[in-house]
Amino acid sequence: MVTVVGNRPQFVKAAAVSTHLRERVDEVLVHTGQHYDPELSDVFFEQLEMPTPDRELEVGSGSHAEQTAAILTRLEPLVRELQPDALLVYGDTNSTLGGALVAAKASVPLVHVEAGMRSWDRAMPEEINRLVVDSLGGLLLCSTETALKNLHEEGLSSHGVVTGDVMADVALAFGPVADERSDVLERLCLEPQAYSVATAHRPGNVDYPERLALVVEVLERAAEAAPVVFPVHPRTRARLEEIGALEGFPERGITPVEPLGYLDMTRLVRAARAVITDSGGLQKEAFLASVPCLTMREETEWVETVEAGWNRLIGLRPEAVEGALAELPAPGATSPAAEIYGGGRAGERVAEAIADWLN
Ligand code: UD1
Repeated sequence: MVTVVGNRPQFVKAAAVSTHLRERVDEVLVHTGQHYDPELSDVFFEQLEMPTPDRELEVGSGSHAEQTAAILTRLEPLVRELQPDALLVYGDTNSTLGGALVAAKASVPLVHVEAGMRSWDRAMPEEINRLVVDSLGGLLLCSTETALKNLHEEGLSSHGVVTGDVMADVALAFGPVADERSDVLERLCLEPQAYSVATAHRPGNVDYPERLALVVEVLERAAEAAPVVFPVHPRTRARLEEIGALEGFPERGITPVEPLGYLDMTRLVRAARAVITDSGGLQKEAFLASVPCLTMREETEWVETVEAGWNRLIGLRPEAVEGALAELPAPGATSPAAEIYGGGRAGERVAEAIADWLN
């Protein structure tokens, strides 16, 4: 079978699945090249001990149309050449969409891991990708019961199976490894629980100057409680430079740093007092590490983190930061409820479900 990956979270997801999958079927790993900077791409393959991609499409950045079109144009001949018995995609990015469309048009059965996630916000490019990919999928593997329920409401649940969340597998397996191997706290001169870690990259938050200014204000408020370390995604860095916000950060207690590899980021999150983010993956990683999370969005696909009391949706309301920080549990207050996301065995279940489905 052919597996298509292209960006940061997908490398993490494939790391949980590939080893189990390769025990059962032949896998050709295709990297679209949507993420190409070493700190967004290569470092994940190295640190997660993943098989290196067999094929590289090198599509790079561009508008949604350009990027998706480049994936379609370059992937289609490869799929024709390889004639796989199935094509596997992860998550909700343009690489997921491109892979799914090529599979559907070539009549190759499609497997979607992380199916059924919904934010109900069609302004998010990822939501459009999810709706299209799930409607094309022949096997829809869900991280949670909530995701399967969403598929049910769309009449798609007959293709659905709950496997648990593959990203959670990696967070659980590599958490202790990161604690041992990463020296990020020493490098950034941080004491455990004495800082917060922030990320922002959603177009809806960072591509509009007035909204980006609110993101900055949220981080400033958080920095009043504890210094904020801010690994900055390249798209966000470019936007912050445009509004001239980066220079003021140090005096406000915010330390911008380059995007971090998986082990450093995991270590940073696990030792943080709080996480402030608009990323889906980080909400979950904070939860699994029993670290409180403030989410700069109005909705989340990972509703379990909110229901369990570890995540607050503060949108872009700086005035909500203080109260949320006071009300959320202290880091490490309970042991992580890992079972909610499959308890670390989702990769194995995904591989099993695929092998059963193919036979
Ligand atoms: C993409 C996904 C998003 C996912 C995120 C993970 C889509 C629509 N979005 O967002 O769902 O959460 O990846 O990080 O697929 N850039 C670089 N170097 C790189 C890659 C990108 O500098 O290696 C810069 C470019 O200026 C590019 C911008 O980042 O235009 C945005 O990259 P893109 O791949 O379009 O989306 P992400 O914001 O990374």
